[in-house]
Amino acid sequence: MTRPSSGSTAPAAPDTANGPATALIQLDGKTVAAAIRPGETLLEIARLAGMAPPFSCEAGNCGTCMAKVTEGSATMRVNDALDDDEVADGYTLTCQAIPDGPLTVNYDE
Ligand code: FES
Repeated sequence: MTRPSSGSTAPAAPDTANGPATALIQLDGKTVAAAIRPGETLLEIARLAGMAPPFSCEAGNCGTCMAKVTEGSATMRVNDALDDDEVADGYTLTCQAIPDGPLTVNYDE
């Protein structure tokens, strides 16, 4: 008796449609690709990826965690440290920034 197989002949589905978006995080001259999970900040994503990004207050007050989003965008929950010009230039507080989708963030700029 044969049973239909659900896996042997089906091509692997590309995971770009439903898979997690990726954050490319640049720090100390290295770039790490990390999966974005809903509700996680860029700081959390970087730390879970094994990186050691700078941070202090984790409340959006000090600016220690500042990095520049060079591709894509992220939305800060709180911003009590960056001025409008810095935000317009792409800088974000990674402890407060939730990615809007795939993005690249650079701590070295
Ligand atoms: S760690 Fe202080 S603003 Fe992010």
